[in-house]
Amino acid sequence: MPFVIAIDGPAASGKGTIARALASRLRLHHLDTGLLYRATAVKGGDPVTAARTLGPEDLERPDLRSAEAGQAASRIAAIPEVRAALVEFQRRFALQPPGAVLDGRDIGTVICPDAALKLYVVASDEVRAARRAAELGADAAAILSELRERDRRDSERAVAPLRPAEDALVLDTSDLSIEEAVAQAIAAAERARAGA
Ligand code: DC
Repeated sequence: MPFVIAIDGPAASGKGTIARALASRLRLHHLDTGLLYRATAVKGGDPVTAARTLGPEDLERPDLRSAEAGQAASRIAAIPEVRAALVEFQRRFALQPPGAVLDGRDIGTVICPDAALKLYVVASDEVRAARRAAELGADAAAILSELRERDRRDSERAVAPLRPAEDALVLDTSDLSIEEAVAQAIAAAERARAGA
């Protein structure tokens, strides 16, 4: 069985950084599932058709990381047919040997409910806004309201809302450095791999 790690959490919680570090340290594949929703939104036209016809070139567009793409992604991510169109790709990705780390909003709850390890990464709103502002070179106050709006939409939607799986390990990165957060995630992954 491929070793699967599911990482969920709100925007800018540190889940992407942790996912990349885990995948590189444990030599697993990595999929940032937010990119699928961002690419679907940026592609334009009917979102369901966009999701069904998403190709590798759509995932390489330079404008996927912007705050606007994030908001647009959050909106189309509430459409059940969009989510359904992206499920199979994510599940197939997760099953590639020797395993994979997937990060998003519904990985532990919907996409990979049997993952060996589920992490739910959180951080205070202020810390998340400061991190994202530094990353994008933008104003933290504007980012804060954008993040809150997006988290509210992602948590309140009817299909696959953002929430921790019952057996997820919650990792609060508010007061942790990147190195400390990654070290805790790696320790949890080693325990999961040992079957502890
Ligand atoms: O992780 P991100 O900020 O790139 O995600 C952008 C949006 O995509 C997020 O606000 C909601 C949606 N998304 C989702 O609904 N399910 C996922 N597994 C990943 C992202």
